[in-house]
Amino acid sequence: MCGIVASASHRDIVPVLLEGLKRLEYRGYDSCGVAVWDQGLKRARSVARVSELADQVKEETITGSLGIAHTRWATHGAPAVVNAHPHFAGDTIALVHNGIIENYEEIREELAAKGVEFAGQTDTEVLAYLVRDCYEGDLLKAVFAALNRVRGAYAIAVFDKDEPNRLVLARQGSPLVMGVGEGEMFAASDTIALAGETENFIYLEDGDVVDVTPSHYEIYSHQGEQYVPVEREVRHVRAFSNSVELGPYRHYMQKEIFEQPRAIGETLEGVVAITPELFGDKAQEVFEGIDRILVLACGTSYYAGLTAKYWLESIAGVPVDVEIASEYRYRTSVPNPNTLVVTISQSGETADTIAALKHARSLGMDKTLTICNVATSAMVRESLLHYITRAGVEIGVASTKAFTTQLAALFLMTLTIAKVKGRLSAQQEAEYMKLLRHMSQAVANVLALEPQVMAWADRFVTKHNALFLGRGMHYPIALEGALKLKEISYIHAEAYPAGELKHGPLALVDESMPVVTVAPNDELLEKLKSNMKEVEARKGELYVFADADTGLEGSERIHVIRMPENYGALSPILHVIPLQLLAYHTALARGNDVDKPRNLAKSVTVE
Ligand code: M6R
Repeated sequence: MCGIVASASHRDIVPVLLEGLKRLEYRGYDSCGVAVWDQGLKRARSVARVSELADQVKEETITGSLGIAHTRWATHGAPAVVNAHPHFAGDTIALVHNGIIENYEEIREELAAKGVEFAGQTDTEVLAYLVRDCYEGDLLKAVFAALNRVRGAYAIAVFDKDEPNRLVLARQGSPLVMGVGEGEMFAASDTIALAGETENFIYLEDGDVVDVTPSHYEIYSHQGEQYVPVEREVRHVRAFSNSVELGPYRHYMQKEIFEQPRAIGETLEGVVAITPELFGDKAQEVFEGIDRILVLACGTSYYAGLTAKYWLESIAGVPVDVEIASEYRYRTSVPNPNTLVVTISQSGETADTIAALKHARSLGMDKTLTICNVATSAMVRESLLHYITRAGVEIGVASTKAFTTQLAALFLMTLTIAKVKGRLSAQQEAEYMKLLRHMSQAVANVLALEPQVMAWADRFVTKHNALFLGRGMHYPIALEGALKLKEISYIHAEAYPAGELKHGPLALVDESMPVVTVAPNDELLEKLKSNMKEVEARKGELYVFADADTGLEGSERIHVIRMPENYGALSPILHVIPLQLLAYHTALARGNDVDKPRNLAKSVTVE
């Protein structure tokens, strides 16, 4: 979703802004732009890629030591140059924004009545004009006054033509970090944009407004209608720009699929025994006091939660509800204060999940735990307990290594709660630990199936629909496989628990319908085989990922790829890997932009 980079410096800052935008491309965008102070406001905007914007900037010789830049993912107004950021209010205020101003229509009408003519349709342009309307010679005060009028979520960076050394930043609900350099200051949506420029970062909090010059900054916190000066910790963070390099891979998604053995290994590194401290100092007390778990998440992270439900109920014996975060906050639910509220998120910035977490807390459920890939994210900061997955930066919009590391962390959480509840014997703990230790190697063995999966992908290229089947804890894996295929190949895919086929979806099965089946050797195997027969009888074509010991054989309409080993309770982590590869190679063969699928953004920071 939208990305911001900004700086107040003494050198030409445009190359830093453009490099920052490049590193934020992974968030997803449909237009981009940069603005600088150069004896007034200057800007370049484009509906093409950041590299084209860079050419345009060169041609138009845009340089300056104070500047803001942006990648936009359209919400209000089509992806068009007039709607691309930075937005100007006439020839004075320049502003970039990530988020949604909910009451922008009423403000737009009000400003239009005063004679403002808007060039585009965005809420951001309205905010720029609102700042101008509030401006009486002091940009900071104008931003204070404007933000007192707006509702919604924002991260903004703004400057004014009459204050050439001053940048004002603000954050409410959308991510923004500030970078403190030597004689220069920066801001960005993600530290990775500023890797190499500084290692000193301030994670701004909701309600913060920052007055920035190249050599100084002052942070204010919004309290009621007032803004009061506050101190925020400067943290030393080494952001690695090389994590955004592709190396020998064609796409980030491919790189990230193949990074999974390392990512899982690092996520489990240092875990020699199951102990509550893995999740924070208060974990023992919290886990002892809970009698229920509520998981809140979106997309792939939601499917990780669905998988964990099977583990938590069967191993730890705790009842679990898993809810789509964007739905949970808007329904009337029955809160139970003894609930552990678990949020799962790759980014830790997903607006729907953060809002659901806050909603759960507002209902009196304050035992919160986040499983997240970004240690400094809002979600981690909002939660009492956490476990940080070590997937490393995930750039492909289609989540892969974040998912499998979430599963590894959720399995650890399951064992920990089971142990605290007295449901894990020493022998069981030792057996599970052995499985976890061998996990990276087991994943690497599955990745070796890639050539076989590629051959299948060639057959999927011309398909318009696909069904995915799984049973038990592999049903969420079928859901994840279908989501992967939809997201990047644009083939319509649906997943069902295999037993549900005969209750409706079987009507879709004919010769042209591929039915991908996740077939581990578990207690449901015989049932699954019967479900596969139902498909075969309707001439559907089955593509089966079967554990080696299932005895499933290929035939004319049944294609089988054998998984190297049966991995018991942790089998979902292995079974999702060929589904990721199938989606990747199908999308590749269809000529799609695998890493940046149409209409999607990596980090969904708006509702
Ligand atoms: O950062 P999060 O894990 O909170 O993101 C949640 C979803 O937006 C995300 O998983 C999305 O579904 C991915 N594109 C799936 O590949």
